Amino acid sequence: MDVLEAIKGRRSIRAFNSKEVSQVIVQKLIDAARWAPSAGNIQPWEFIIVRKPEIKRKLVEAALDQLFIEEAPVVIVVCANEERSSQGYAVRGKTLYCIQDTAAAIQNINLTAHSIGLGTCWVGAFREEETRKILNIPHGVRPVAIIPVGYPAESPSPRRRRPASQVVHYETFQDE
Ligand SMILES: Cc1cc2nc3c(=O)[nH]c(=O)nc-3n(C[C@H](O)[C@H](O)[C@H](O)COP(=O)(O)O)c2cc1C
Repeated sequence: MDVLEAIKGRRSIRAFNSKEVSQVIVQKLIDAARWAPSAGNIQPWEFIIVRKPEIKRKLVEAALDQLFIEEAPVVIVVCANEERSSQGYAVRGKTLYCIQDTAAAIQNINLTAHSIGLGTCWVGAFREEETRKILNIPHGVRPVAIIPVGYPAESPSPRRRRPASQVVHYETFQDE
């Protein structure tokens, strides 16, 4: 599958069947994530692989009862190591670069998963402190996304995109 095909064919998947996702596949997803670009090549990402039902259940609660999270055989929680980024780039590293870097890693996971027939959803609506406690995440590391990964049990239609004519600006954002 070429890159554009993967980008355009990917959908957020919120229903999964019970087929297992092997550790080999999880490693492939993490490998794709690790090859994302990062500011100064600092690679501030950390990945927590969750398979235990009792931990997934708690994540559902932290994520405002988004039940599909526990339907997925594997959940990858992607965190930004603010500490690493701030050592290189101070406040801009902590508040911006480490979030951008982990976002790139997250999308690599989503696209790679889609390209091999898996479904994912980028879940950003969750209570951070609760999630931190559930997963024993230290301070200086911020959970950025919860990604349930599994074989899709739905095939949603594409969501609408704003047309290029609305989002592209030429030369300056707006005319004088
Ligand atoms: C930062 C971010 C946070 C998101 N949080 C959630 C979420 O908490 N729950 C959810 O079901 N989808 C979440 N989504 C998925 C979006 O709803 C989805 O990407 C958007 O509607 C476009 O649909 P598509 O991914 O199928 O193209 C999130 C996406 C992003 C990028």
